[in-house]
Amino acid sequence: MIPIRNISCCALFVSLVLSRVAGADTRIEIVVDQQGPVINKDIYGQFMEHLGRGIYEGIWVGEDSDIPNTNGFRNDVVGALKELHVPVLRWPGGCFADQYHWRDGIGPRDERPVTLNKNWGGVSENNHFGTHEYFELVEILGADAYVNINVGTGTIGEAADWLEYMTSDSESSLANLRRTNGREEPWQVSHVGIGNETWGCGGTMTPEYYTSVFKHYATFAKATGGQEPVVVASGFSDESTEWTEAILTGVPDIFSMNYGAISHHFYTIPSGDFSNKGASTGFGEDEWFSTLSNTLRMRHIIEANVAVLDEHDPENNVAFYVDEWGTWYDVEEGETPGFLYQQNTIRDAVVAALNMNLFHEYAERVQMTNIAQMVNVLQAMILTDEEQMVLTPTYHVYKMYVPFQDATSIPLKIREDSKYTYDGESIPKVSATAAQNKNGKLHIALVNSHASAPENIEVELPDDIGSASGQLLTGDSLDARNNFDEPARVIPVDVSYLAEEGRLSLSIPARSVLVLKLE
Ligand code: AHR
Repeated sequence: MIPIRNISCCALFVSLVLSRVAGADTRIEIVVDQQGPVINKDIYGQFMEHLGRGIYEGIWVGEDSDIPNTNGFRNDVVGALKELHVPVLRWPGGCFADQYHWRDGIGPRDERPVTLNKNWGGVSENNHFGTHEYFELVEILGADAYVNINVGTGTIGEAADWLEYMTSDSESSLANLRRTNGREEPWQVSHVGIGNETWGCGGTMTPEYYTSVFKHYATFAKATGGQEPVVVASGFSDESTEWTEAILTGVPDIFSMNYGAISHHFYTIPSGDFSNKGASTGFGEDEWFSTLSNTLRMRHIIEANVAVLDEHDPENNVAFYVDEWGTWYDVEEGETPGFLYQQNTIRDAVVAALNMNLFHEYAERVQMTNIAQMVNVLQAMILTDEEQMVLTPTYHVYKMYVPFQDATSIPLKIREDSKYTYDGESIPKVSATAAQNKNGKLHIALVNSHASAPENIEVELPDDIGSASGQLLTGDSLDARNNFDEPARVIPVDVSYLAEEGRLSLSIPARSVLVLKLE
């Protein structure tokens, strides 16, 4: 039992003052006299693709829409996204990127061609959201731009022209075309992805073939005006390091000329089987456990690839990205199959936090991740239904973790810990991370993965810490979620604790994420 005082059940953000619990099952020491790597804020990156209602309706409704908007961007969604301090936004895909021809998405909107989105539902794409709209959104959000160029059906010339169009300050025809279309100054492009899943939807290539293609593209698809975006090679998925090896051995010259990255994709599927993934709601403890156990494979994927990177690139010039990750469930009943719309529950929040804690642990090499996807697709931050909007449990975790952006990680020693065992398999019950933000404030995040059991935790603190305050996110059932009728069922509550004799003792409920500032 958690001793609770000062609880007001009707307030949106309930305030809990929690004090010491007896006997701890997990003991953690924060090693404040050591510093780990800086947690690159880009670990909190987002991804949006021309897929389902991810962009159209989800973000872009057009200036003539009845949904309140500014220049075509819906006000509610943009307002909510600003709270997340989105550091970087990957676009236009995904598989869509390899069928995207940038010239279709510039110029007067009513003159843009209508194309076919062959990857995602075969729907018409009116190209109303194109390069100018993307950069306007990026600037509104204060994010960096990460464009993924078309290797599958595009040409090297087309990619080179797009980069010139975006980045040139010259009087070239392409730069002037951009001006004619309403943008005087070049945009800043911070990342350029060369292809997407080139082992699959991006061309069914072998790693050796892709390596040659990558070199060819990277030679010509260059930004101008002194900009040197990070060049991102499309890596593999799962634990295999074959692609990382092939790229690193095949293109050392390109990576040494320009800071580069190799990006992996990894999706968490409850069943582990893409053809029958499991539902986003209405699941039992078996799928709660298998989802968390599967998501923790991220550790092995990172470890295996970082080992290869360390061997080939001991100076750490080439970063490891995970530019698509998150949960992927069976499509909701009644939804268009190709639109990948799914509900988002406290399980997704726990998945998000477990992955964040892992990314922090490997922050030296893991410099960017992009959850798939920002709105209405897969593990989204936000769901919309025409004019309605709801913030998902995953959104709340991203907001709670904002203090970790660009913070310096602080090592933790887990002195004792509990296991969560289900059907003969075990995973760690508690996951933890700590960091000092830019203002010198120490933060800690704790996750209790267990479906039903709370955990007593004791954190050894520096002597000068007297209290901890922050937010707790939990759910009243395994699939607790927010929907349009009940948008605040899973929201963070404010909590505070008192430290005693250099120790913080607390009980963290089952299925929950806790982020605290220590003072
Ligand atoms: O995020 C949905 C899809 O998943 C992306 O388009 C593709 O890259 C991946 O297979």
